[in-house]
Amino acid sequence: MSNYHIKNLEEYFQVYRKSVREPVAFWEEIAEEHFVWQKRWTEVLSWDFTKPEIAWFKGAKLNITENCIDRHLTNRANKTAILFEPNNPEESAQHITYKQLHEQVCKFANVLKSKGIRKGDRVCIYLPMIPELAISVLACARIGAIHSVVFAGFSATALATRINDSECKMVVTSDGAFRGNKTIDLKGIVDEALENCPCVASVLVAKRIDSAVNIKKDRDLWLQPLLDAASSMCPAEIMDAEDPLFILYTSGSTGRPKGMVHTTAGYMVYTAYTFKNVFQYRENDVYWCTADIGWITGHSYILYGPLANGATSVLFEGVPTYPDYGRFWEIVEKHAVTQFYTAPTAIRAIAKESLRFVENHELSSLKILGTVGEPINEEAWHWYNDNIGKKKCPIVDTWWQTETGGILISPIPFSTPTIPTFATLPLPGIQPCLMDENGKEISGKQVDGRLCIKFPWPSMARTIWGDHQRYKDTYFSTFPNNYFTGDGALRDSTGYYRITGRVDDVIIVSGHNLGTAPIEDAINEHPAVAESAVVGFPHDVKGNALYGYVILKEVGEQRNHENLRKEINQIITEHIGPIAKLEKIQFTNGLPKTRSGKIMRRILRKIAGGETESLGDTSTLLNPEVVQEIIENSI
Ligand code: PRX
Repeated sequence: MSNYHIKNLEEYFQVYRKSVREPVAFWEEIAEEHFVWQKRWTEVLSWDFTKPEIAWFKGAKLNITENCIDRHLTNRANKTAILFEPNNPEESAQHITYKQLHEQVCKFANVLKSKGIRKGDRVCIYLPMIPELAISVLACARIGAIHSVVFAGFSATALATRINDSECKMVVTSDGAFRGNKTIDLKGIVDEALENCPCVASVLVAKRIDSAVNIKKDRDLWLQPLLDAASSMCPAEIMDAEDPLFILYTSGSTGRPKGMVHTTAGYMVYTAYTFKNVFQYRENDVYWCTADIGWITGHSYILYGPLANGATSVLFEGVPTYPDYGRFWEIVEKHAVTQFYTAPTAIRAIAKESLRFVENHELSSLKILGTVGEPINEEAWHWYNDNIGKKKCPIVDTWWQTETGGILISPIPFSTPTIPTFATLPLPGIQPCLMDENGKEISGKQVDGRLCIKFPWPSMARTIWGDHQRYKDTYFSTFPNNYFTGDGALRDSTGYYRITGRVDDVIIVSGHNLGTAPIEDAINEHPAVAESAVVGFPHDVKGNALYGYVILKEVGEQRNHENLRKEINQIITEHIGPIAKLEKIQFTNGLPKTRSGKIMRRILRKIAGGETESLGDTSTLLNPEVVQEIIENSI
């Protein structure tokens, strides 16, 4: 029996039991046999969820890029590591071999060093899905700089907040981005952000769209000439197991975005292990995850997990709808993709269109399909299974979070029988539990509650950058001695888990995690707005969409509601990005509040979702009369 590669259900149960009974021996064996270390650890795990402090492979020394690149140079030098598929299907794909990746990462790393970046410095990467994104991430890891990738759909204000929070010294960007038939002026957005970021000393600019951009003297530098002049040898900085590898921001239910800090060794071991098992990766497979590297899915399952396994990983610059709704399947056919991993929202968007976009393409290379980021509804699951997998490819519904670093609950293909909408069973090493509202664990089957994890796993985030107290409060205080996920889940009679959605004020829109508080803060910036509340409501493509209830300062403002709606969405776009725009905006004279002044979001959610029959008890409200008004004017 191998702990590393699970091949059937019986093996899964054996491995799982071992991982719970002897977690230290379990992870030690995996770490020992499948990775390159410069120095062995002195302790596999030390942890205390009350502080909370978690350390894996303490005392070990390593560099993750030696594991993701250098070690493959012996047997896989000419194998494609990254297969770049450009936005425009007319432009040729690029096969970047492990040898080329090594050279390019080393060159980039030398450029970073020549610009004064050292171990521990933070580098913000704001790039489209082009090879430079993968290379710059790995180059940071090569020299021990902490990368903070910001999704290139975020606005200048959102970018500036993230740059300042972790005091990045450098920004890596491009002149612009191609996105379907549009171009986006990334450099312009960076320039605007940097007006408020005194910590940034330099900006490296990759050329992608060949647009005229402003180059600020003594700050901005074109990347290519620097790469051309750089040496292709760069020794890997030797890192401690617990040195931070990266920061990645995620929305919280309140306040500023949280800079989740992931460290080196545990993250590497866990993402590699889960990639191998969840995607059953074999040597000649071509694996494609459609996420953006700006999100955790891209970090863990486009870059680190696949590369640690010597895989070929597709990097797609474009969107599923360009030049038409068949683009995904065209790429699957063109590169004979074997594992395909995407978000339910993309499946729903494509499923709405004609099947001819699918039928035009040969999809027989596919072996395994995956989904991530939000619950997949039964209809989308069946569409995916019937039309893409042709009922032959297991679907892995993978549940996890930015904070968890890797997949925690998922079927193992060809081992775990799948049921639509169920993420099924915990992966080895993961000990989930359900809690009731009083903090008591709910035992047994056919139950639902708040999903927690009882025991540490190697890739869990170790802290929130600059705010350990918030890390403790958010994840370890609601249910002491447990990591609280913020999700609700049910466990069925076979022990399978089904994730039912967030139980806090985070809303998942098209697979993107959005906190309501920052959106409300943006809306409240509008001079005509007195107060606002944002909730989610079910949407057949996006999963959820945003519904805003807005109280205006003066009734007179009511005359121009359409303009106001546009202006409010414009402010949201400026503060956060277009992904956070409101689908519906209702102007109202009041919001339902408790006697302590808290907005009763439960009621607003029900009204937004059209469930006005089941509002529950409203008599405890400070202002119950407002509910009827809101119902009558709901959109
Ligand atoms: O609510 C869960 C949902 O996405 C949240 C995490 O979002 P984020 O940190 O952006 O990471 C997304 C990619 C890993 C979770 O708390 N979620 C993620 N995967 C699933 C899911 N909900 C249901 N089913 C899933 N498979």
